[in-house]
Amino acid sequence: MTLAVIGLGFVGLPFALVAAKSGQKVIGVEADKKKYDTIRNGKVPFYEPKLENFLKETKDKTFEVTNDINYAVSNSDIIFLCVNTPENEDSSVNLTYLKTAAAQIGKSIKKGNNEFPVIVVKSTVPPQTTESLVKNTLEEFSLKKVGEEFGLAMVPEFMREGSAVNDIQNPHLVVIGTNDDKTDDRLTSLFESIYQNSKPPTLHTSIVNSELIKYVNNAFLATKISFINTIANICNNIPGANVETIAEAIGRDPRIGKLFLNAGPGYGGSCFPKDLSDFVNYSKSIGYNPLLLESTQQVNQTQPKKIIEIITKKSGELHGKQIAVLGISFKKDTDDIRQSPSIKIIHQLLELGANVKTHDPKALPNLKKIFSDKLVYCTDIAKCLKDTDLCVILTDWDEYQSLSADDFIKNMNEPRVFDTRRIINPEKMLTVDYFALGYGN
Ligand code: UDX
Repeated sequence: MTLAVIGLGFVGLPFALVAAKSGQKVIGVEADKKKYDTIRNGKVPFYEPKLENFLKETKDKTFEVTNDINYAVSNSDIIFLCVNTPENEDSSVNLTYLKTAAAQIGKSIKKGNNEFPVIVVKSTVPPQTTESLVKNTLEEFSLKKVGEEFGLAMVPEFMREGSAVNDIQNPHLVVIGTNDDKTDDRLTSLFESIYQNSKPPTLHTSIVNSELIKYVNNAFLATKISFINTIANICNNIPGANVETIAEAIGRDPRIGKLFLNAGPGYGGSCFPKDLSDFVNYSKSIGYNPLLLESTQQVNQTQPKKIIEIITKKSGELHGKQIAVLGISFKKDTDDIRQSPSIKIIHQLLELGANVKTHDPKALPNLKKIFSDKLVYCTDIAKCLKDTDLCVILTDWDEYQSLSADDFIKNMNEPRVFDTRRIINPEKMLTVDYFALGYGN
């Protein structure tokens, strides 16, 4: 079987390369000229561990990249739609790329000879999009009938940035959402072949359930984070309280589970904020106001302000202070700064008149595009800490874990550290004015 993967972004490229590495023949399509040229030259346009090696190993063997969607579709049996579904200014979801790609696929399958091509939506889309917008566009442009002349499915992707390759190679579950048996059989055998080694469980369901599973999964995880952030904010006002101990204890209850209970400056990235907002809007549009999900969003939106409030309470007036911010990306192991709480916090620090120095192992080039000369950018942690009055740790990069009290004492005017991720062991910081989110006083 040959696969086409339309859209080689954070989801499409890792998926395409994992499939290619497993031995499938994959044709990846990227319309953006700069990204296409980068991939063609054997480079990954964003930072994602392991991905560049996968590209080197598969390129021009099982993986081919093109900017010609018609060529890719005409030569494929299964076509994965992995295009971006970004947010419009009014926070509605922008389905233009999806519609354009579906129209192009429709035109190609109209004249193509491939017997029963299967089109799979992998982009995250509001419920009912696949069976309305995607199906209608495909039928309109191909003049063919879904379920008879081509197959349609929705297969959500649960991978996380920073561990995309591992997550795609070892999924906790494969969800195949389709309304016809032929498509289900095709996809079942494809995934059996990709996942020969990991053999994940597979759930076969309808298209609309598949779309919902993705939104609900993200909504639950985001709610878990806003829940523990709420508890951390409460703990901050209780002498002796420790959110880590509480999370560890409740996480041992199998009904709760220990993952996604790390309090911090709030969730960011391209998925949780956008998907929650789309899901809330969708729910309202069909007549239900999802109060719980709105609260999840509100807690997240106010968390950066909470961080500023805690800093101000401890350090006083921030005007004229020299502040070192460690960690810009929305989480470790990525250079992605979309919706990163660090960006919101830096904006607020600047508004309050602080001077900000920043460090991040990967994200500084992206940060410069937003703040240009308003910040000092340091590739070295010690240089970032040098002559500052306060250090705020915002991202959970491994390199911050190994910082010692001496690193702060040696370099800072006043060794004062606010650790929003509790990444440093407080026992090591007894000689420093160390405080952390979720540690009462
Ligand atoms: C998420 C989902 O996990 C993934 O299944 C989906 O496919 C895409 O969206 P991603 O955005 O890459 O993945 O990262 P994730 O690891 O989920 O973290 C999202 C945000 O939540 C980050 O800002 C992270 O720092 C934050 N987070 C996560 C916490 O603050 N605490 C936690 O315990 C976990």
